[in-house]
Amino acid sequence: MSIYLDHAATTPLDPRVSEAMYPYYTQLFGNPSSIHSYGRQARDAVDQARLQVAATLRSDPSQVIFTSGGTEANNLAIMGVAAWCKKKGKNHLITSQIEHQAVLETCKHLETTGFRVTYLPVDSMGVVDLDALRQAITPQTALVSIMYGNNEVGTIQPIRQIIDIAHAFGVLVHTDAVQAFGSEDLDLTKLPVDLLTISAHKVNGPKGVGALYLAKGVPIEPLLFGGSQEKRRRPGTENVPGIVGFGKAAEIMMAERKKHQTKMWELRRVFLEELSKQDVEFVLNGHPKQTLPHICNISFLGMDTETLLINLDLEGIACSSGSACTSGSLTVSHVLQAMHLPEERTRSAIRFSFGKGTTEEELKLVAIKVAQIIRRLTTS
Ligand SMILES: Cc1ncc(COP(=O)(O)O)c(C=O)c1O
Repeated sequence: MSIYLDHAATTPLDPRVSEAMYPYYTQLFGNPSSIHSYGRQARDAVDQARLQVAATLRSDPSQVIFTSGGTEANNLAIMGVAAWCKKKGKNHLITSQIEHQAVLETCKHLETTGFRVTYLPVDSMGVVDLDALRQAITPQTALVSIMYGNNEVGTIQPIRQIIDIAHAFGVLVHTDAVQAFGSEDLDLTKLPVDLLTISAHKVNGPKGVGALYLAKGVPIEPLLFGGSQEKRRRPGTENVPGIVGFGKAAEIMMAERKKHQTKMWELRRVFLEELSKQDVEFVLNGHPKQTLPHICNISFLGMDTETLLINLDLEGIACSSGSACTSGSLTVSHVLQAMHLPEERTRSAIRFSFGKGTTEEELKLVAIKVAQIIRRLTTS
């Protein structure tokens, strides 16, 4: 038996995506910067993918910068704005305590170069404190970077309010929408965010490709130098097959998003209902409603995350703790810690994350297996 419930970590490649990518590994191998026909074919493919990705955001294709993934897009957003704003005498950034490491560590790095960073607290459901945001903004603030939906507990932030607060002070806003892309409607004609990060491999696209959306007129400095690609904002020969795959995955996602979102909510309901039928003590972490439906973070009271994960893996069930795994041993999640959950919850949390192939039958089976494992561990 093999059940994959770690779609927040990565998703399998959609066969329609691999089919679209394949020619760009073989006969259509040109460099988009070359002026001959090989180059032009590759350039057309990158342009087409840019249209497909931009369509998901209802943005202009010129606002999409392809990167090597979500991590790089987050780095480019934060470091790029920070570098530009520093020239204007602004040296303060605001983020939250529950961001992905690609944001947190970038901010930590900037602290070593003279920036001051405010890490906003969250409540017990993982929602950012808006009063703390209002109080943190100063004339030196260059950027607010708050994720759209959390990758460990799923909580969706009040991003529209965050934008309104920051913009009232003339401060730019970046959001890491890597986990939200796929289930939420990221219509940027309605959401006036300045920078937004997405990644292909969370929506059944290839790994190693993502994008940063940059609203018109938002100034950033590049991280890399040495070419005119992506209007010099991200130089280097493009990952053409990856970008083509991202475009195709984005197109499929756009066509199927609503159906997918409904399915994720139904799977979530079924899983929680099935778990409730079992004789196990569990608590759902994160916001019960304002959440990405595909992420279910659950604490099994009295249990230990690592032991549960190992036993689930032995049963062929792949899920995760959601938190960083350093040299084979789990650290307590910084997200659950920031939510000030009691230790018995932070030490027993498991993240189950659903995706396209997940079925109700699988989740019913997983609920039964979890209960069996817990009974076995507590009676042995
Ligand atoms: C919220 C969030 N941001 C950023 C990333 C990094 O994206 P990538 O794996 O494309 O570098 C991830 C991936 O786990 C994520 O969940």
